[in-house]
Amino acid sequence: MTVKVPKDKTIDNTLAIFKDGYNFIPKRVQNHHLDVYETRVLGEKVALLSGIEGAKLFYDTSRMNRKNALPKRVLKTLFGEDAIQTMDGDAHTHRKLLFMSLMTPDALQELYEITTKNWARFTKKWSSMKKVTLYDESRELLCRTACEWAGIPLEEKEVKKRTRDLSNMIDGFSAVGPKHIESRRARKRSEDWMEDLILQVRQGKLEAEKGKAIHEMAMHQDLEGQPLDARMAAIEVLNVIRPLVAISKFIAFGGVALHEYPETQTRVSLDDEYLFRFAQEVRRYFPFVPFLGARVDHDFTWQQYPFKKDQLVLIDIYGINHDPKIWENPDQFNPERFIDWDGGLFDLIPQGGGGYYKGHRCPGEWPTIEVLQASFRYMTKHLGYDVPKQDYSYSLKKMPSLPKSGFIISNVHFNN
Ligand code: HEM
Repeated sequence: MTVKVPKDKTIDNTLAIFKDGYNFIPKRVQNHHLDVYETRVLGEKVALLSGIEGAKLFYDTSRMNRKNALPKRVLKTLFGEDAIQTMDGDAHTHRKLLFMSLMTPDALQELYEITTKNWARFTKKWSSMKKVTLYDESRELLCRTACEWAGIPLEEKEVKKRTRDLSNMIDGFSAVGPKHIESRRARKRSEDWMEDLILQVRQGKLEAEKGKAIHEMAMHQDLEGQPLDARMAAIEVLNVIRPLVAISKFIAFGGVALHEYPETQTRVSLDDEYLFRFAQEVRRYFPFVPFLGARVDHDFTWQQYPFKKDQLVLIDIYGINHDPKIWENPDQFNPERFIDWDGGLFDLIPQGGGGYYKGHRCPGEWPTIEVLQASFRYMTKHLGYDVPKQDYSYSLKKMPSLPKSGFIISNVHFNN
């Protein structure tokens, strides 16, 4: 049977991305029989992919690549130029091994412990504050955590500035005007700071423990046996600490979930398996990354759609996490759905899909889960707080999304 590949009828749909937000792709693809849909964005013919089959195609490195897949404005703010996100083939695999080498069981345990220590430290500080905006405060908590875990010295007087810069790099890539310009400046300041530290490690002026991100990036050799350019090494260290700070968004959303579903609290505080399922459900349920892009490697036809070499393809990250064909009652927050989950590589994809080593799946997925587990365990076991009246709703049109109030808590105290 021949099924016509659905298309947008309008000439350009760039504005629809802002109008439909996280639902831009699901709205188009999920009501059809195929997992592909054609639209036009910024004058380009773009293929939108959704569903498990769509994710498998997107992460098939023999058919898709990342060269020129990311707009300049994203590289100049969020990721940095020529870094791992833009690489393909053997060079990418070699660089990915460097990231994955940081994620040992001991390193993950250490990250859990540093995170917990910082929650205790911040609880003390918050107990003298009238109100605490969890999103803002957890950014600083995570900046301290990230730097300690990565072996980066952080003086007390620079904590606020570094936290602000790392956050602005994340929040400014999709903005226009002054917010975007500030995001570019934040990247430049952060790269300058980190490049200086990389040079200090190489010159033996800064002691860095083996296994820590700053040491590994400073000492890494590429496939030709050459050290990374100091700027490149700096960008890759930032590719570790910046996303660790971004976990603050999931922490704020987790605060909302604990408040909206109070029956989860006791189990999160006591039951390790439930804690894991709760963290997974926070990552699945709440909006973070809407979609990701790749380019077609060579002409081929898939599900009757003729993909053309170099064509832009977008994969529906948010939509796949909420696809009713994959998840039962996807719009219900239900950690128990992970009891029978088989750990599929293409269904729970808030941080990308496929394998870690050959493809672009986020190497920080386990660190993220570790930080979330440490945070939600601490919040339910040791943190006493009230939730004052506020608007913690969030929009699916604003990307990246966040609870409007940032999730405010008050009367903070130690619970035992
Ligand atoms: C890649 C999301 C935390 C490091 C990615 C990708 C996504 C993502 C969607 C792209 C996948 C793709 O291109 O197919 C997130 C989210 C995080 C998070 C939502 C938590 C809030 C982390 C952490 C680290 C990290 C904690 C480091 C410790 C990276 C790196 C890449 C990446 C280096 C590029 C991988 C590659 O191109 O091969 N992340 N991430 N991320 N993430 Fe994360």
